[in-house]
Amino acid sequence: MRTPLLYALFALALPASAQADPLSDLGRALFFDTSLSINGTQSCASCHQPANGFASDMAFPEGAIAGRHGRRKPPSLAYQAISPPLHHVVEEDGILFVGGNMADGRATGAGSGDPAAEQALMPMLNPDEMALPRAACAAARACASRGAAMEAVEPGVCALPVDAAAACDPATPEADDGVGTEAAVALLGRALAAFEASPEVMPFSSRYDAYRNGQGGLTGDERAGLALFDGKAKCSACHVLTAGPDRRGPVLTDFTYDNLGVPPNAPAGEKASADRGLAATLEADPLYAAGAAAVEGAVKVPTLRNVWTGQPRAYMHNGWFSSLEGVVRFYNTRDVWPRCDADRVTEAQALAARCWPAPGVAATMNRDELGNLKLTESEEAQIVAFLKTLTDR
Ligand code: HEC
Ligand code: HEC
Repeated sequence: MRTPLLYALFALALPASAQADPLSDLGRALFFDTSLSINGTQSCASCHQPANGFASDMAFPEGAIAGRHGRRKPPSLAYQAISPPLHHVVEEDGILFVGGNMADGRATGAGSGDPAAEQALMPMLNPDEMALPRAACAAARACASRGAAMEAVEPGVCALPVDAAAACDPATPEADDGVGTEAAVALLGRALAAFEASPEVMPFSSRYDAYRNGQGGLTGDERAGLALFDGKAKCSACHVLTAGPDRRGPVLTDFTYDNLGVPPNAPAGEKASADRGLAATLEADPLYAAGAAAVEGAVKVPTLRNVWTGQPRAYMHNGWFSSLEGVVRFYNTRDVWPRCDADRVTEAQALAARCWPAPGVAATMNRDELGNLKLTESEEAQIVAFLKTLTDR
């Protein structure tokens, strides 16, 4: 029964952080809004599925336009909204890049200070994803479908000088592109970023959180897996287990970049080629261009929260892996097993033949923290058991 009283009681029962926030509520509505794709077929949730930890159940899903798809796997977007703007830190053994959104950090947040807000416009305008011809089209579509919620957050924001049909027609001349729609476009980014940072997307509610907070136990194998994760297997060097001072728990990434030597992958029928990762982003920046060669093939460390949601899915930036067991075996034996003979093999074929394909980018591959961990098979299984405690409830 949907009575106002029931809603009032529900709101009282929620902690303050989970109470209605108009900006993140708008972001939630936009996240599920298919009118933000050119033909109304796709929303953010099509590729970032809430039931799959806000990742996708497949490696290369089709975009709004049939037959089009990108060359990276839709990652989990959960816990990414707190990634700081892309910046560098000088360390003893070199320069470390931290922050940004996307596998290659190209949503740097340099202009706005908010990588997530900057990122949110990119899928709408990507021809392989939601395929809108220009940002003014996104503003016009959002004002048509969510005008009241947009105006409630920022009065006057939807008084646009463009009409949706013209703004969304690729044939409209670029000259009068978007003047007067900037505020609405910026609001879309801020609202989606607010939703991504909301308790619905970052609940910190896994069994591991409960265990850390002294509110639940882990099995013997899960605890052994945690000890390995934080010790012999070195996982926590990148998938950190420390919570920031203002955070409710660890996000299982330090938002740095690394090249693990993952085999190249591509959609069926296409040639697999190496992913340049962060190098392509740095190269485009005069300040950082000189640092690009050292990070060729390095991609952002993903969160490991919700890597398991009840079924295996595609893992790593290009989805070459299809099981957590395969991922852990790779960390353990990448430099121990011989090269596979065949050029292009699947994870299942490699595991059966006990070989690994050549890395996408060999020169910059991390050889210090992975490749020959000397884990037994039962230790590998314990690490997988621990990974499965990171699922939010
Ligand atoms: C057709 C599938 C598809 C749709 C639709 C889509 N995305 Fe994505 N998303 C991807 C892929 C693929 C990547 C990885 C791209 C990359 O790293 O270059 C990604 C990356 C991201 C990231 C970066 C996460 C990180 O680790 O830095 C965020 C955040 C995100 N998407 C949010 C959104 C939002 C918000 C929408 C809707 C406006 C959306 N996505 C729509 C496929 C999709
Ligand atoms: C040197 C840093 C580093 C270490 C150490 C490390 N990882 Fe990773 N991890 C990464 C990076 C970077 C990626 C993404 C690589 C890619 O997509 O090519 C990743 C990806 C993953 C993924 C895939 C997540 C997804 O959503 O696709 C899993 C699972 C994972 N790591 C588990 C582990 C485990 C378990 C260990 C310890 C055995 C470990 N990692 C050690 C950096 C690291």
